Amino acid sequence: MASVQEILDDIARSPKATSDVGKVADYIPELAKVDPRQFAISVATADGKLFCAGDCDTPFSIQSVSKVFVLALALGKAGDSLWKRVGREPSGLSFDSILLLEREHGVPRNPFINAGALVTTDSFLDGSTPREALGALLRFVRAASDREDIHIDENVAQSELDTAHRNFALAHYLKSHGNLVNTPEKVLGTYCHQCAIEMTTSQLALAGRILIDAPDMPNLLSRQRKRRINTLMMTCGHYDGSGDFAFQVGLPGKSGVGGGILVIAPGRASIAVWSPGLNDYGNSKLGTEAMAQFANKTGWSAFG
Ligand code: DON
Repeated sequence: MASVQEILDDIARSPKATSDVGKVADYIPELAKVDPRQFAISVATADGKLFCAGDCDTPFSIQSVSKVFVLALALGKAGDSLWKRVGREPSGLSFDSILLLEREHGVPRNPFINAGALVTTDSFLDGSTPREALGALLRFVRAASDREDIHIDENVAQSELDTAHRNFALAHYLKSHGNLVNTPEKVLGTYCHQCAIEMTTSQLALAGRILIDAPDMPNLLSRQRKRRINTLMMTCGHYDGSGDFAFQVGLPGKSGVGGGILVIAPGRASIAVWSPGLNDYGNSKLGTEAMAQFANKTGWSAFG
C-alpha cells in the first residue's frame, strides 16, 4: 500500500487538473478575494508524525471549524447542562437558517449550526469579557497544536461583524426565548472573532489531535467528550450536507465557509484539508472530494 505521503502527493495533484473548483464565499471582501485554486492537506498521526501536501503553510480563515473548539471549551465550563440549551440532532437546513428556531422555542438543533454556535459562544463567555474568552480560545488552540503563531485576523472579524445581520437576528431570537445570557452584541463580537482565527492546514491538523483518542496526544478532553464531539461532527458537521459527507468519507468532519475541513480518523489521525471554493452546501468542494479520495485510499473509516 502507498504511504500517507504518497497518497497526499497524489491527491494534491488532482486539483490542478480540475476546472470546477467551486465558488468562494463572497459575503465579505476578505474571503471573496481568496484565490480559489489553492489547495492544501495535512495529516497529524497518532504516532506523532505530520504529513502535508500543497499550500499547507498558507493561513486561511477557519470560520465554522472554530465551533468545534468553542464547543469543547463551553462543555468544559458548563458540563452537560449545556445540552439543556442546545440539541444534538442534524437540522437538515443551511448553517444560518432560522426556520426551526421558532418551531423549537429557541433551542437550536445542534452546536454547529449558527444558532447553536451562538449558544455555545454565549455559554463559554459567561462570566468573562470577550477579550478574556478569545484569549482562552487562542491559548487552547495554540496548546492543542503546539503552535504559538496562531492569531485572529482583525479585518475579517470586523467585516463579519459589519455584515452579521442574519446572525444578529438569530441572537435576538435566542435572547427573546431566554436562551442567551449575554447581549447579542457581546456574543456576536466574540463569535465573529472566533470565526476569524487564521490557521494553516498543518496547524489545524495538529490542533485536531485533541479529538483522536490515542496515547501521547494532547490530553485536553475526556474520552467521553472526544467521542461525543466526534459523533456530532459526523452527524451535523456539514449542515444539510452532513449525510452526504458521512456517506462519501465515513469519518467525522467539520467544515468552514473559508474552505477548511477538519476530519478525525479515530485512534489514527487528525486531517485538515483546505480549498476555498465551496459546493452547493457551502462546504469546500475540492476539500470534500480530496477527503473522499483519502478515505478510499487509506481505508481509514470510523466504522472499522
Ligand atoms: O456565521 C457566519 O456567517 C460565518 N462567519 C461562519 C459560517 C461558516 O463557516 C459556515 N460553514 N460552512
